[in-house]
Amino acid sequence: MSIALINSIATLHKIFCANRRQLSKTATTLRKKRIKQSFHTPVLLDETIEGLNLQKHSNPIVLDMTFGAGGHSKEILIRHKNCHVIALDRDIKAHNIAKDLAQEFRKRVTPLLGKFSEVDHLLKSHGYSESSLDGVIIDAGCSSMQFDEAERGFSLSKDGPLDMRMDGTRNSSQVTAADVVNYLSLKDLTEIIGKYGQERYPEKIAQSIVENRPFSRTKQLAEAIGNAFSISNHMIRMDAIGRRCHSATKTFMALRIFVNDELNELHTGIEMAEKFLKNDGRLATITFHSLEHKIVRKLLNKRGGDGHSPWHPDKEDYAKPFLSELETNPRSRSAFLRVATRTRKT
Ligand SMILES: C[S@@+](CC[C@H](N)C(=O)[O-])C[C@H]1O[C@@H](n2cnc3c(N)ncnc32)[C@H](O)[C@@H]1O
Repeated sequence: MSIALINSIATLHKIFCANRRQLSKTATTLRKKRIKQSFHTPVLLDETIEGLNLQKHSNPIVLDMTFGAGGHSKEILIRHKNCHVIALDRDIKAHNIAKDLAQEFRKRVTPLLGKFSEVDHLLKSHGYSESSLDGVIIDAGCSSMQFDEAERGFSLSKDGPLDMRMDGTRNSSQVTAADVVNYLSLKDLTEIIGKYGQERYPEKIAQSIVENRPFSRTKQLAEAIGNAFSISNHMIRMDAIGRRCHSATKTFMALRIFVNDELNELHTGIEMAEKFLKNDGRLATITFHSLEHKIVRKLLNKRGGDGHSPWHPDKEDYAKPFLSELETNPRSRSAFLRVATRTRKT
């Protein structure tokens, strides 16, 4: 090889390294920006972290099963310097934020992409055995990032495709909200809207859907649902803090729960916490509607045939946001936090 050729390879190598450093700097800046732009305000932040009681462990391991924008996880990493966080989410965007956090808190974050029902396999394949965790968080439902991005199709107020899959396109066989409203029978739609939306007039809404389908956009569906009611009935609904809400709100919630199989997932999530928490480890669940509250209450109060309960619920039973949190974060309005300690038989 000639000297000239060696020199030009060395020069190219230098340029390549400089570009790579520049690219990596730009990527870090972009990631930081992305974290700032992800406007999810964590709900019941102090109460959740205090509930986990991590200070009693020397090197606690916490599984955040609903990482989202990482609000709870990041605060845990800041407050507990020896803590390791396993950050799970089924949403690729949340997973990317978890990867960014792993860069920021080197060796203290393990990002995992998947659902509660996949957590057994995911944890074991990353070397975590049963009874090895000190804390688990489940902050159920959708994040503000998911609601606020019209293209995800969760929002009533922003027009977008009728999608609602938290997994996005990750799982191509998963049905979308459009599949549900366009192909299910009147009877099935009535059942979904009544059961998961706890809607008072499920049949009326299902009828309007069947008469006006096919739908491809959220606004189109919201209008058809609104038209099922007279003007006087249309906007008189109130939410938990007395604000008027759209007559399609409960139907949208029902579709979201159905598309993402949220209730079965929650059930499995708590079972996974039971399996992977150590004796004395703690579970904190934040739930937002009565069907979720019911599942958590039932599982945390269950007893085996010998009368032993795998959970000891926190003595205060549950916490709700204070008025100050409701004012700054209206999405916390229906939140309930429950904390329970895993009690293994000795
Ligand atoms: C309410 S947000 C969590 C917000 C988070 N605690 C924070 O402070 O940023 C719920 C997150 O859990 C995820 N999620 C919901 N159900 C899930 C499931 N079954 N498996 C995995 N992730 C789930 C959603 O994709 C969403 O990002």
